[in-house]
Amino acid sequence: MRNNNRKRIGLIGFGQIGSSLHEMFEAQPDLNMELAFVYEANPERAAKIPKGLRLEAMEQFALHQPDLVVEAAHPEAVRRYGTLVLRERDLMILSVSALVDAELESAIRNLCREKGTRLFIPHGAVSGLDGIKDGLSVWEQVTITMKKNPRNLNFDAAPHIPGGRITKATVLYDGPTRGILPLFPKNVNSHATLALAALGLDRTRSVLVADPELEESVITIDAVGGGNRIHIERRNPIKGVTGKLTILSILESLKNIFGSREVILTC
Ligand SMILES: NC(=O)c1ccc[n+]([C@@H]2O[C@H](COP(=O)([O-])OP(=O)(O)OC[C@H]3O[C@@H](n4cnc5c(N)ncnc54)[C@H](O)[C@@H]3O)[C@@H](O)[C@H]2O)c1
Repeated sequence: MRNNNRKRIGLIGFGQIGSSLHEMFEAQPDLNMELAFVYEANPERAAKIPKGLRLEAMEQFALHQPDLVVEAAHPEAVRRYGTLVLRERDLMILSVSALVDAELESAIRNLCREKGTRLFIPHGAVSGLDGIKDGLSVWEQVTITMKKNPRNLNFDAAPHIPGGRITKATVLYDGPTRGILPLFPKNVNSHATLALAALGLDRTRSVLVADPELEESVITIDAVGGGNRIHIERRNPIKGVTGKLTILSILESLKNIFGSREVILTC
């Protein structure tokens, strides 16, 4: 039954992030958030969705009256359902790398303008994004460097890179952010988020290093220009492709959205 005070969230994807969000909503009633529905493509994962919340077809999503839909699935889900959702409701996307597709980005921006709906991109693993945005008019170069153990990288979209044979710290990519997004779409959402908020996908520099000695994820951001410099480093232990800090940060972004405090990027 609908509790009118609670914010209702529709989830696309019930993997690590989706199920963690559900657990946190259940464990912390003070959050005042509940699931409106869960849409999950994988039947095994879908079997774990709590009773009554499983959505069979995204076309039916609005019937469940979500205040916000959160995509926590895959860039393909943003391509398939992004505009469908934004026609009627606000959407937060975690698979930000989907916006490498300039046509999709422009379709989303136009739809938001037309319908008055909003796309939210949480800062996620990009700590200190406010400082980077504050200095936008001075930065000449903005670089994000990610270092991970190759076992925490997903090489499916880059079969030409022999991930399993990396024995020492190796630079896998160094160039414009737009170029890295199709290669490691599940790992470099932080690159896309930073680039969209900073100098854009073509002028922001991305570096990816695979290091078999690393037991944590390391992200550094360097912004330089006009004698100013910001250097940010974030380290966290990692399981699969998503670390605990990231999940906590998504929850904070949800609180910000519903509390109408500052959000990271809207259109
Ligand atoms: N923006 C960020 O800061 C950030 C941080 C971490 C992860 N991510 C991204 O968030 C997404 C989810 O991460 P995760 O760790 O929960 O991944 P996960 O693999 O644990 O879970 C993803 C779930 O989505 C389902 N799914 C995939 N395609 C789907 C589709 N088209 N429709 C419905 N369900 C679909 C999968 O079956 C799976 O259950 C990934 O794209 C990941 O790269 C973003």
